[in-house]
Amino acid sequence: MKPTPSEPKLPSRDEYYNLATKLEWTPKYVSEEELFPVDMSGIPNLPMDVWEELYDAPYKVTYREYVKNQKEKDQRFFAVREAGLRSELLKKLDPTYHQGTFCFHITAVPIPEYTASIAEARMARFGKSGEWRNLSTFGSMDEIRHTQLQILLSHDNIAVDPKFAFSHKMFYVDGWLPIAARSFFDDTITGTSAIEFALMTTFAFETGFTNLQFVALAAMANKTNDFVFSTTTQSIQTDESRHAQIGHPVLKIFSDITKLSDDLVKKA
Ligand SMILES: [Fe+2]
Ligand SMILES: [Fe+2]
Repeated sequence: MKPTPSEPKLPSRDEYYNLATKLEWTPKYVSEEELFPVDMSGIPNLPMDVWEELYDAPYKVTYREYVKNQKEKDQRFFAVREAGLRSELLKKLDPTYHQGTFCFHITAVPIPEYTASIAEARMARFGKSGEWRNLSTFGSMDEIRHTQLQILLSHDNIAVDPKFAFSHKMFYVDGWLPIAARSFFDDTITGTSAIEFALMTTFAFETGFTNLQFVALAAMANKTNDFVFSTTTQSIQTDESRHAQIGHPVLKIFSDITKLSDDLVKKA
């Protein structure tokens, strides 16, 4: 009897996750210092193979899962926004909420979200571990999505009040708030190395502030029957809680460094 050829066994999701995200180039034509300049990658300047070994993200997502999830989230957002526009929701909202908290958030947040997409892209290039760069690529796409959704909601509101145009203008005027915001976000986002951004923004700001802000705003919007903004902030928050975890393994490396050889620590 002829033996039946065995079916080729495809790697499981967990097997190909590691295979795909922990795949590293071996640079031959440039030195590691040229490929990952310390000003862009940050300190401690540990070798690539050490980062590769130590960086272990708590939230693992493949590109296929990412695209499927994001597509479903966007479909939900656009369906709910359409329902809000057709039912003329904006005319029915409580003016204190609409002209106050909602207006403040929707005009202040989109441009900082855009700056975050730049810094996520910096980690996607200069983070010294494949898994870190992979998750930052998703993070950068997340932040562009957040910018676009919130600018779109501001645009829907311009007919009600022209001050909603500040979601575009916010960083280009010299009021006290834009000056303070520019300075703060230059320090924590636009002017940072990959390691600094991972610690100051994804670990500290996004874990400690952004997640809480979006959860509280979703609850507040829900109470005032603003189902469009409630859906939007919940949708954004699910991205934030994922990429907020990029910084945790970076922070852990600061404690792991004590276990490394003295030689490596001195070089770093
Ligand atoms: Fe964001
Ligand atoms: Fe974020």
